Amino acid sequence: MVDGIALIGFMGCGKSTVGKELARRLNYHFIDLDTAIEHGEQMHIPQIFAQFSEQYFRDLEHQYLTEQRPHRVVLSCGGGLPIFARNAQLLQENWCTVFLDCSFEACYRRICHSTRPLVQNSTPDQLRALYDSRRPLYENCCSLQIAADSSPFAVAGDIIKQLRLHRH
Ligand code: S3P
Repeated sequence: MVDGIALIGFMGCGKSTVGKELARRLNYHFIDLDTAIEHGEQMHIPQIFAQFSEQYFRDLEHQYLTEQRPHRVVLSCGGGLPIFARNAQLLQENWCTVFLDCSFEACYRRICHSTRPLVQNSTPDQLRALYDSRRPLYENCCSLQIAADSSPFAVAGDIIKQLRLHRH
């Protein structure tokens, strides 16, 4: 089994829930990069966006990604992280990157009432356009693409099956 698994995908695709379940089954550590940033900076992400800027958050995100070591770790990445070439390169070089491919509708149901800055500042149509523009980038960056509309338990099971099959 691979040493470091990074989960990517749009906001609400289930990275954190699936990641926790996957880590539990593999006996790996689970790290949520957004939570690591919030702990490290002692600020919530909406606060970081509002008091500084999205760019400031993107720089933090990159910095925290460079600090992660892929040893028996399942890493949940923020939805925007793989969109930037410098992050996509790190993921491709150091991690087995798994794209949780979830429909926009399922993602939207989970995020529509959230305080995520991009959700607060976008209309549903704008979010769908963002989803459409990011999907090919997730596809390009990943080494494994998993259909993720089903339950987190089923998705975690599918990932383990595929990893064993292909010996990623
Ligand atoms: C973002 C997704 C969020 C968080 C930030 C920006 C994005 O993470 O990193 O609000 O650009 O898609 P989740 O994908 O875990 O919600």
